[in-house]
Amino acid sequence: MVDQEGFARILGHDLFYRSTGPSDAAATVLGLHGGPGASHDYLVPLRDLTRWGYRVVLFDQLACGRSEIPPGTDLFTLAHHVEQTEGIRTTLGLGKVHLIGSSYGGLLALAYAIKYQQHLRSLVTIGGLPDVPFAQAEMNRLIDEMSPEDARAIRLHSSRGEFTNPGYLQATDRFYRRYLCRLPEWPPEVVRSLELCTQRPVYPYMNGPNEFTISGTIRDINIVPDLPKIRVPTLVTGGRYDEVTPAVAEQIETGIAGSRRVTFENSSHMPFWEEREKFIAVVAAFLQDVDR
Ligand code: ALA
Repeated sequence: MVDQEGFARILGHDLFYRSTGPSDAAATVLGLHGGPGASHDYLVPLRDLTRWGYRVVLFDQLACGRSEIPPGTDLFTLAHHVEQTEGIRTTLGLGKVHLIGSSYGGLLALAYAIKYQQHLRSLVTIGGLPDVPFAQAEMNRLIDEMSPEDARAIRLHSSRGEFTNPGYLQATDRFYRRYLCRLPEWPPEVVRSLELCTQRPVYPYMNGPNEFTISGTIRDINIVPDLPKIRVPTLVTGGRYDEVTPAVAEQIETGIAGSRRVTFENSSHMPFWEEREKFIAVVAAFLQDVDR
């Protein structure tokens, strides 16, 4: 198994990438992280797909993780993320790829497909959100399903902009353990990606202060009307308790003709950790079906 990491020069900036598996693999799986503004680290379970002979490439988007941080915020856009993805694909010579995106990475994968689907073998979304206002409305509903105390703390402090209030942070933690990752102990890679969200400039700018307050620049994005343009085999996945709810996954399924949807019953936003074996087996079966 070859594990290679390094920097690729993409659109004038150094982006960190990791490639695992045979470089002469029949096909490459390219993974897109979410946040927007997290890092590739929490996606490492996708490398399990090398067991089926795939090469798996993960990278940190501009100003995320170990990638270069440019001055200013002009390049922190969905459109630029699409070009970064295309830049990684062409610069590393990946050919036609299976594209997998988690959360905002799912939105990015869909936006990439709308522009560049001729370069895709298939598309997989994991807790992807094509319609951010709807995903936010669903998150608001999930807050209402928490204990009355937590729901009140979140609403009160958020209306006052008190995002570091201790009671608010405790309620945030409980939201995360219910709808973000339900494992009693979080893998260090998940912790690292979440820490990087607040240590790098993209997450506060594009997403917002936390997962359920999407007040950043992606807040009005809705690409649902463009989904019917996507004609590649598509697998839509998510967790039963996903902060990006099954109703959001259903929007993707409805928008893309012939797509399949799988809900992981014991998972929230990270089924690739919460039900790792099952998740990887489902995705591998899908990819092999496409490649046959
Ligand atoms: N904050 C969500 C994500 O993880 C949208 O990308």
